[in-house]
Amino acid sequence: MDLNSLKKKAQKEIENAKDLKQLDEAYKKYLGKKGELNKILKTLKDLPIEERKRIGKEANKIKKELKERIKETKKTKKEKFQKEREEKEWIDISAPGKIPATKGHIHPITQIGNKAEEVFRGLGFSLIQGPEMEDEWHNFDALNIPKNHPARDMWDTFYLENGKLLRTHTSPVQIRYMESNNPPLRIIVPGRVFRYEATDASHEFNFYQLEGLMVDKKVTAANFRAIIEEFLDSFFEKDTKIRLRPSYFPFTEPSFEVDMRCINCGGKGCSVCSQTGWLELMGAGMVHPEVLKSVGYKPDKWQGFAFGIGLDRLAMLKYNINDIRLFYSSDLRFLSQF
Ligand code: PHE
Repeated sequence: MDLNSLKKKAQKEIENAKDLKQLDEAYKKYLGKKGELNKILKTLKDLPIEERKRIGKEANKIKKELKERIKETKKTKKEKFQKEREEKEWIDISAPGKIPATKGHIHPITQIGNKAEEVFRGLGFSLIQGPEMEDEWHNFDALNIPKNHPARDMWDTFYLENGKLLRTHTSPVQIRYMESNNPPLRIIVPGRVFRYEATDASHEFNFYQLEGLMVDKKVTAANFRAIIEEFLDSFFEKDTKIRLRPSYFPFTEPSFEVDMRCINCGGKGCSVCSQTGWLELMGAGMVHPEVLKSVGYKPDKWQGFAFGIGLDRLAMLKYNINDIRLFYSSDLRFLSQF
């Protein structure tokens, strides 16, 4: 290649460069150590000295010119290159994703608990919590369930290696609260409880209860009835009817089972209420004097009622769900409906 055509070729390449990288490449290709210009200069060594001088001069001139041109081009095109690059690489970081982000939401049992809490707060109850790992004193003894008493079989218990147990009901929180607070008091205690038993559509080894406790000077079963009716009316958003049946719990006397007129059939009898017209809702009763004594309250001065509702049961009735295990299945097809 002669110097002239090299110059022309290089100029063209510089002209057509699309970015800074191509300009740098052109520099290397023509003016670099192993570049085209040097290649030509190397072939000069056999020529007569005059010739060499002339071509050498010419080559230096071209070198200077090309260098200058590249520098100029860099300067003038820098902005253009930059702009082109930005346009090519621009992404809208505020654009919504192609797959919409899935939002989590509150578990149905928690929603039911929140709703129950709202109603009871309106009735003057405070929300209290207690530990899931309990000791025998709070879970049993203080609740008037002595060791080796057959009544203990009502609560199939998971015992832990450290001598403690997983609470079988939320009633131990009654004891914990009364041990460190003076009456009068109104509390509700939502919480997870555990029972060592086989699971089926209506039994889980882990479920949720809502405990209620009210202690004052003249609290009676009539107060209990009124409060529960008020609660159920707001909770189910309809006029509900309840009945109390005699029952047995070591920590209440008298004890009752609370039934609610079936919200599905209104009492005519259907599959939800096993044709009885009634739904079993909770255990309850007047706090046993022995329980009051065990926390240092004077039974001749104070009295009260306590109840324990299954939150899962409430949720099943409210949402018409027929298998308790669904709540603990982590199945999003089920959970995302609430
Ligand atoms: N703790 C009882 C249970 O788990 C329910 C209950 C609570 C009964 C309070 C009476 C009073 O079955």
